Amino acid sequence: MDLSILLTINITITVLYFVLPPACLAHKLETLDYKFGPFNSSYYTIFAVLTPATISNDALQVTPDSAGNFTLSNRSGRVFFNHTFTLWEELQGGAARVASFNSSFLINVFRVSNTSGPGEGFAFLISPDLSLPLNSEGQYLGLTNSTTDGDSSNGIVAIELDTFKQDFDPDDNHMGLNIHSVRSNKTVSLSNFGIQIAPVGTKVYMIWVHYDGVQKVLQVYMAERAKAKPTTPVLTADLDLKGLVNQNSYFGFAASTGSAIQLNCVLGWNLTVEQLPSSKNGDDDNNKLIKICIGVGVPVFVLLLIGVVGLTYYQMKKRADSDLKLLGALKSLPGTPGEFRFRDLKNATNNFDEKNKLGQGGFGVVYKGVLPNEKVPVAVKKFSRDNLKGQDDFLAELTIINRLRHKHLVRLLGWCHKNRTLLLVYDYMPNGSLDKHIFNETEEKNTLEWKLRYNIIAGVASALQYLHNEYDQKVVHRDLKASNILLDSHFNARLGDFGLARALDNEKTSYAELEGVPGTMGYIAPECFHTGKATCESDVYGFGAVVLEVVCGQRPWTKIADFQFLVDWVWWLHREGRLLEAVDERLGNDYVVEEAQRLLLLGLACSHPIASERPKTQDIFQMISGSVAVPRVPPFKPAFVWPSATGPDITSNSSRDITANSTPMTSGWTPQCVSS
Ligand SMILES: *[C@@H]1O[C@H](CO)[C@@H](O)[C@H](O)[C@H]1NC(C)=O
Ligand SMILES: *[C@@H]1O[C@H](CO)[C@@H](O)[C@H](O)[C@H]1NC(C)=O
Ligand SMILES: *[C@@H]1O[C@H](CO)[C@@H](O)[C@H](O)[C@H]1NC(C)=O
Ligand SMILES: *[C@@H]1O[C@H](CO)[C@@H](O)[C@H](O)[C@H]1NC(C)=O
Repeated sequence: MDLSILLTINITITVLYFVLPPACLAHKLETLDYKFGPFNSSYYTIFAVLTPATISNDALQVTPDSAGNFTLSNRSGRVFFNHTFTLWEELQGGAARVASFNSSFLINVFRVSNTSGPGEGFAFLISPDLSLPLNSEGQYLGLTNSTTDGDSSNGIVAIELDTFKQDFDPDDNHMGLNIHSVRSNKTVSLSNFGIQIAPVGTKVYMIWVHYDGVQKVLQVYMAERAKAKPTTPVLTADLDLKGLVNQNSYFGFAASTGSAIQLNCVLGWNLTVEQLPSSKNGDDDNNKLIKICIGVGVPVFVLLLIGVVGLTYYQMKKRADSDLKLLGALKSLPGTPGEFRFRDLKNATNNFDEKNKLGQGGFGVVYKGVLPNEKVPVAVKKFSRDNLKGQDDFLAELTIINRLRHKHLVRLLGWCHKNRTLLLVYDYMPNGSLDKHIFNETEEKNTLEWKLRYNIIAGVASALQYLHNEYDQKVVHRDLKASNILLDSHFNARLGDFGLARALDNEKTSYAELEGVPGTMGYIAPECFHTGKATCESDVYGFGAVVLEVVCGQRPWTKIADFQFLVDWVWWLHREGRLLEAVDERLGNDYVVEEAQRLLLLGLACSHPIASERPKTQDIFQMISGSVAVPRVPPFKPAFVWPSATGPDITSNSSRDITANSTPMTSGWTPQCVSS
């Protein structure tokens, strides 16, 4: 039964991909649209701003402006939107589909000195990761360096706006298409178009990048701000991104200065990227697509059937082999909980009925189910089939949780793997997740009472202590937030969703894997966007956010009285000596003043922007019980500084550097990135 359904779907999709004109498909694809700018500090939460790049004066400063106290010369920087896009996918039979995208951005490349020329260049960049190569200043434009230049493992494609002539460059004012290298595959001198990238004075340009993944053509347009898009592109190139860039890549900017300097400012950025079916999880959309295409494809379907059956059979056999590998890995895990039969879980959840859906966690949907013989309900997490990384996530989750045992962690009962569907079975938590209770999303009549709130926080602290310090291998949860804290029948906290947890000793994955950035906003420590790594300290930061929301009854990103985030408001109340006003007003006076004070101060201390200043996990539990005093919380929230210590990046000779370029500037000088 299952087999034939799978076969039909496979065949239909195959027919679809081979037979329907690509244009028809292009219409069916949805796009992801983003509009960014003017840029303020809130963009640090969704962008990876790699030092010495900063956000200031309403702009992304891809290399330093004067505000950051960095030297301006011999610098390189990168800024990315912290989100991966699936740029291509393999189809059945070795064909591929490539995503189309459009992007436009406003830039001001500012010539700092009137007498010496600008340097070195700015680039729009597609990159496999959120890193900045060492020593990529000067001619390397923040794209490569002397060892990596030209190496196809760079996986980068960029459009450069080069303002400094190297011996391989046509001039000092050109656009180029760069693939893995700063030696462009194609260059166009902009002087022919009446464009001066960095003229004397301030000029803001709009650049439009259009990429057609069907025709595999790139077109770049450029015009002064406020002018319409020109009819002819500056640069046109045939470009097949498949094989050049990583399947999942980031979009962003890179820039550099050399001994000649310039400011590289981005004032606004729009990005539209086609969403390939494999990067989406919505089965509904796929079903719709399949239905439409069955109608269209049936006549051709018959003709192709025979060939396709062979192909599909081959595919399935290959899959079965890889499934066997996974199964082997599962069975060899030490202490793995029991294996469940797929049929039982399917029956238990009424064939994964929507009505039994408990929620949507990282990478999968959770259903409630009742096992036939047991009568106790369980929670079944079904990993999305379309998720290419599914197997790795599944294994990562399993390797960790199957060995963790703690009364404040959700217990894993077993697993099941069938037909490429991965399932994990957990204890069912009758009271759902914490956020539902504090934000009253269900028709909850009663506000969660103080004693329970206090207990929940203590439980989470105890679970963290276990993960960070008591378990034989440090485990970082990475994704601590109210929706991942579940409540058992006695309202005890149980940490769940280790979908993103990784044992510290093999920490390799990029932080940007955190999908759905808005939902995690306010829980992620600021340094994570720079280091790309979760640490015990960043878990403590997330814990601080949870403490504040439990006490205040507000989400971390709640805007209160002109404050962007909850933590800023609480900090202000602390300074004003009115801390207790932060306590959830639905509690009235039904709370313990001393405990509330302690928790609020602890929440603030854990939200310290500098990781090393946050309380240590092992102390937190004792602070909650009151046996250790909460650290003093300064009246003003300290600024986030990166790198956190004064390192070689922050030099004291910036003023000398500027005068050497004979520009009359003082420390009070403000950069020329105007946005008006
Ligand atoms: C940043 O800008 C957005 C709108 O562009 C605004 O909603 C937000 O309040 C600003 N944040 C800060 C910290 O200024
Ligand atoms: C990009 O823009 C062009 C021209 O406006 C349009 O035809 C195309 O559909 C756009 N592509 C995407 C992915 O939005
Ligand atoms: C982004 O799009 C908006 C509206 O579609 C437009 O007003 C704005 O100028 C665009 N900005 C950039 C940088 O392309
Ligand atoms: C080039 O960058 C890579 C990656 O950052 C680094 O490992 C390598 O040492 C760099 N080469 C030089 C010459 O700095």
